[in-house]
Amino acid sequence: MLAGKRIVLGVTGGIAAYKAVEVCRRLVDAGAHVVPVMTAGAEHFIGRTTLSALASEPVQTSLWNEASPIPHTRLGQTADLIVVAPATARLLAAYAAGLSTDLLTNTLLATRAPVVVCPAMHTEMWEHPAVQANIATLRSRGVHVVEPESGRLAGGDVGAGRLAAPDVIVGAIEAVLADGPWVGQHVVVSAGGTREPIDAVRVIANRSSGKQGYAIAAEAAARGAKVTLVSTVDLPVPAGVQVRPVETAAQMQAALQELAPTAQLVVMAAAVADFRPVQAAAGKLKKDLGVPQIVLEPTPDILAGLGAVKPQGQILVGFAAETDDLVANAQSKLQRKRLDLIVANDVGAPGVGFQHDTNAVTLLRADGQSSSVELTDKRSIAKVVLDTVNEIRGATHNTAT
Ligand code: C5P
Repeated sequence: MLAGKRIVLGVTGGIAAYKAVEVCRRLVDAGAHVVPVMTAGAEHFIGRTTLSALASEPVQTSLWNEASPIPHTRLGQTADLIVVAPATARLLAAYAAGLSTDLLTNTLLATRAPVVVCPAMHTEMWEHPAVQANIATLRSRGVHVVEPESGRLAGGDVGAGRLAAPDVIVGAIEAVLADGPWVGQHVVVSAGGTREPIDAVRVIANRSSGKQGYAIAAEAAARGAKVTLVSTVDLPVPAGVQVRPVETAAQMQAALQELAPTAQLVVMAAAVADFRPVQAAAGKLKKDLGVPQIVLEPTPDILAGLGAVKPQGQILVGFAAETDDLVANAQSKLQRKRLDLIVANDVGAPGVGFQHDTNAVTLLRADGQSSSVELTDKRSIAKVVLDTVNEIRGATHNTAT
């Protein structure tokens, strides 16, 4: 996606400038040609050498460069994308007003390439009406804004304004540059384990971390899809992903019944509880009243319900966490739940499934084809899942025509 793309990385003068180094490294790792441009303010926070050592070209800082008399037009015209990370309030104001005071602002005005700005500043500044008005102006002109996160800021303050994480910024860049079959598709992913209340404080839960579902959501968004993630966990939200927080199987079912009908792909990566207490106690069950009898009832099978009403052309993907008879069990779930694809993992094997950053899976398709992926990171598994969905679509299309 980013391979061979020429990306101008603008860095302005905020403490978050040090994170631009990581953004640069990730872009270069993804195969992009990165041309860094630093403002005078940025040079107070990081050295030119740091960025130059990682980037594809030396850092540029000045309009007055003897070797290239008009560097801003060359930079602006040859860029596939310009990203400004971090973008200070000053940069946003200058860009919104069309002020060309230095190499970066000149380059932003001298380009027709897509622009991504990643604001970072103190909460008071970020929430100031002048800054918000500038953001609105830039958005109305088609500039992509990667919103700052809430968290710890310089000086120990806590609030909104912290630069988005480097992987979120890189994900946003990938999504802007994406082309191909996923652009504009609606993808719904569920992630995490449901929590079924026993009383006001206790729940029946499971060990699912949600990492595999988040990786699928991030990969689909990076390919240009509009992604909704129905989640029980609080992990960093990938760029371009809308999160619908839920806790119980009933809430997850309601969210999916609402979202799935318009989705081209639904991936149920969540670990849904199979049983829940018939009734949750209103207060906290008292220990001195003795061991409680908790009566359980089955939860609805959300995925089977989606399979029964699956719209024409939608691809439905389930997961099967197994400890034995992996393929046979997964195969029967594939058929029973009317899925197009099931991703089976042997959760008893080392490094596989729940809570790990890695996974190893067997993919079984409704058309009988199957494949396996050896132990790898969950993002790589996500890529294989989406590539397999593409293959299924291609096969269906070829059969239909
Ligand atoms: O039957 P089993 O729980 O092993 O099936 C796993 C798949 O079914 C997963 O994709 C899971 O998200 C989904 N599931 C569901 N509703 C349930 C139980 C599982 O959607 N109540």
